[in-house]
Amino acid sequence: MKNYLLSIGFLTTVLIFCFTSCKPEEVAPLKRMPVLPAEVYDYATPARETFFEPFGDSIINNHVATLGRVLFYDHQLSLNNRVSCGSCHKQQYGFADNRAFSPGFQNALTTRNTQTIGNTGTQRGFFWDLREEILDHMVLQPIANHVEMGLDDTLLLEDRIRQIEYYIPLFRNAFGSEEVSTRKIGLALAQFVKSVTSVSSRYDQGAMMVLGSDFSGNVNHVPFPNYTEMENLGKHVFFMKFACSQCHGGVNLDGSLSAPKNIGLDANYTDAGMPGVDERGRVRNGFFKTPSLRNVQFTAPYMHDGRFRTLEQVIEFYNSGVQPHPQLSEELRVREQGGLTFEHLGPVIPFDQVPTDGRVLPQRMFMTGEEKSALVAFLKTLTDYQTLTDPKFSDPFQVVE
Ligand code: HEC
Ligand code: HEC
Repeated sequence: MKNYLLSIGFLTTVLIFCFTSCKPEEVAPLKRMPVLPAEVYDYATPARETFFEPFGDSIINNHVATLGRVLFYDHQLSLNNRVSCGSCHKQQYGFADNRAFSPGFQNALTTRNTQTIGNTGTQRGFFWDLREEILDHMVLQPIANHVEMGLDDTLLLEDRIRQIEYYIPLFRNAFGSEEVSTRKIGLALAQFVKSVTSVSSRYDQGAMMVLGSDFSGNVNHVPFPNYTEMENLGKHVFFMKFACSQCHGGVNLDGSLSAPKNIGLDANYTDAGMPGVDERGRVRNGFFKTPSLRNVQFTAPYMHDGRFRTLEQVIEFYNSGVQPHPQLSEELRVREQGGLTFEHLGPVIPFDQVPTDGRVLPQRMFMTGEEKSALVAFLKTLTDYQTLTDPKFSDPFQVVE
């Protein structure tokens, strides 16, 4: 009994002690301020001469992009000041995230893998399901999205930005007036996002070398002088032998030149992807944007749900794992007779000849071990260290006293 009382006494003392001193200290929120260069960075000029127009039709204004950079990294754009665009789109991972799903402002996870950002000026269609066509609209969506940033009241957003002192000169320089509007916020974010270009990978350098030698033809069909033998073999496999480029085409090795595709990740997708109907009038299931492969070395994990951790796993999937989904894109189906470039695979089965009971035959590529390693080596030549490290794309915020 005495012991019992003693321990109660002890516990009470501990509790009282805790109430007075174990209480978590009130920490003043850290003050983060953007630290910007005295002279604005040059966003309007690509890092080097290129064989394509990395901004598309857009003209980049350095002051607008500078404002966009601050907005992109500002935690105050989320309801509870906890996340910014840059919390998920991380520069060192090609502006993607290194996890399958990213935590938003309340720690709830996104339902899809964070996409990489680069050369968006040259792209048509945004998000995995391509639900947004115009980047200037698109960039405002994550701010309002309840998982991502949760600030869905544009008046509240404007009001908040208006009260932050460092935005006054930024708006003035960008738009000639301090007036804050959602439209301007969207425009500035879009300009910064579009300014994130990738033009300096070894792939770009190789293409420029070939083009500089009075070459006319498809640079993707000849070896690059700056590549190793292995990388050139991988390039051949990618563009000629297994024609990954049928979907991953164009300057970003993305789907800008093609429609959204079903690559047979599953026989039946839980995330249906792009809504609507396919060529044969069936409700679409499993159609996704063909992602850009620029910086793919650092954008793991891969696919819309981040299911693959390594490039080797992705390649093994294409080699032997494509599922017989009834809407599997034709590029990945078995072909019947000799075709021209890809004759070892035979021609595509046209959609109207696909068995109507839903059966499809995914192709098996029978890649050799060397071809798989070569593909990985080639994909790594798409890395652009300039994009991954350029200070003008980095987080300008620093903690101040
Ligand atoms: C919580 C993580 C998170 C935050 C914060 C976030 N994003 Fe995203 N972002 C994603 C995810 C996930 C996707 C793919 C969503 C989908 O397809 O449904 C995406 C897609 C995108 C895309 C489309 C890329 C493409 O190739 O189609 C752009 C551009 C983009 N975000 C820009 C932004 C901007 C600008 C902000 C800040 C205003 C922002 N994101 C904030 C996770 C985030
Ligand atoms: C039928 C069109 C098509 C073909 C052919 C194709 N891909 Fe893809 N690829 C896609 C689509 C669509 C996705 C995204 C699918 C998803 O997430 O559901 C993708 C995703 C990827 C990814 C993941 C990128 C990321 O950021 O998550 C890599 C890597 C890749 N493909 C490489 C290849 C290689 C290598 C080949 C050739 C062996 C190839 N692809 C052939 C359409 C295609």
